[in-house]
Amino acid sequence: MPKSWSPSSWRSFPIRQVPDYPDPAELASVEQQLRSYPPLVFAGEARNLKKALGEVAEGRAFLLQGGDCAESFAEFHPNTIRDTFRVLLQAAVVLTFAASVPVVKVGRLAGQFAKPRSSDTEEIGGVVLPSYRGDNVNGSEFTAEARIPDPKRLVQGYSQAAATLNLLRAFAQGGYADLHEVHRWNMSFVSSSPVNERYRDLAHRIEEALSFMEACGITGETTPSLRQTDFYTSHEALHLGFEQAMTREDSTKGGWYDTSAHMLWIGDRTRQLDHAHVEFMRGIRNPIGLKCGPSTDPADLLHLIDALNPQNEAGRLTLIARMGHDQVERKLPALVRAVKREGRSVVWSCDPMHGNTIKSTTGYKTRPFDRILAEVRGFFGVHQGEGTYAGGIHLELTGKDVTECTGGAQAIDDERLGDRYHTHCDPRLNASQALELAFLIAEQIKQERADLRLAASA
Ligand code: TRP
Ligand code: MN
Repeated sequence: MPKSWSPSSWRSFPIRQVPDYPDPAELASVEQQLRSYPPLVFAGEARNLKKALGEVAEGRAFLLQGGDCAESFAEFHPNTIRDTFRVLLQAAVVLTFAASVPVVKVGRLAGQFAKPRSSDTEEIGGVVLPSYRGDNVNGSEFTAEARIPDPKRLVQGYSQAAATLNLLRAFAQGGYADLHEVHRWNMSFVSSSPVNERYRDLAHRIEEALSFMEACGITGETTPSLRQTDFYTSHEALHLGFEQAMTREDSTKGGWYDTSAHMLWIGDRTRQLDHAHVEFMRGIRNPIGLKCGPSTDPADLLHLIDALNPQNEAGRLTLIARMGHDQVERKLPALVRAVKREGRSVVWSCDPMHGNTIKSTTGYKTRPFDRILAEVRGFFGVHQGEGTYAGGIHLELTGKDVTECTGGAQAIDDERLGDRYHTHCDPRLNASQALELAFLIAEQIKQERADLRLAASA
């Protein structure tokens, strides 16, 4: 790989998952326009996230990353943003308490528009059209017109991301993220149904901790960190023309940052070492993620790490394993061992969603809650076995009460998927399933820490 890099050097590499724009000149002109738009995030914020992720890499913090599979223009609404933010914070409180370490909160939102597809075309009833590639590329309706890639959608994506980020910043700093408030939402979750009873004990212990702190004079008024939080954004860096347009040289410290989000990741379909996506991502200084599916080979992974994190900086690279519940125990250990053997600093995060997508008996694309949980458990088990740190979780979720994944305490079955199946892309955990998963992971972490203490005292 050549040493020199520029925001446009990816253009001379082979590339996958590129939309076929009918008018490339129009695309170039939109990209030119975006180049003059304000950055969405500041380089200093990306550095703060990298530092926080460095703590995760070293086992002193936990990463919670989540949001929609794909955001949509049609569903752009303050309540949608609020509800996603809210469920992430609710999960974060539970995890912070269980792990007794800070939770780094990263939304999969404010720019998660572009989607990789397994096929360039989609066929319905003998009609073949280009696949839907996300709202910043084309429309999801199955008509020839909607499926034509339209560069102007990139500007709309930028605007929606800017407005979303603005609201998130207000929520995170303006009082909505107050720990006591978020805990109250959790109390109402555990008391809402008898099946949530098993989580009540944990919630009560959090309650006690908060009351104790309050009695000691530690409240949101005296201690700003109780009423504020750091919330970061991320998306898959798939549309490189857009990402390049948002990439700016940091005026304070130098270096190139992709200012479209704090963190960007490379998808499992675009992680070829000698291709454009890896070339682009190696040059930006943001913290980055790399999705690792079951086909990831340990030697290839080490080459990718060489390219993406040559200085072995803690917090620069998060490996997001998405193996599937039935493969995680078989495929993950070799990767974890190779990374450990070579002394590479990474965050290991678990995406238990993408390897567990199936077709329901009623024809819907779904993900059984049990399999999601089984993959999480398998992931933790592998790290326990290898003596490495299970550092994070990457979820597709929504704050809305949808019926897209089966199972969980609400026991959504195949028949009920049709009730509120709203996703434009992959099936998401609803608010209650996401929170239930957080409680179950919390139990897992608590157990792990108890085992560690036992081992230390033996
Ligand atoms: N500032 C701390 C943190 O972000 C505590 C905190 C405040 C918090 N509000 C929160 C934690 C909401 C989780 C969720 O960790
Ligand atoms: Mn998805």
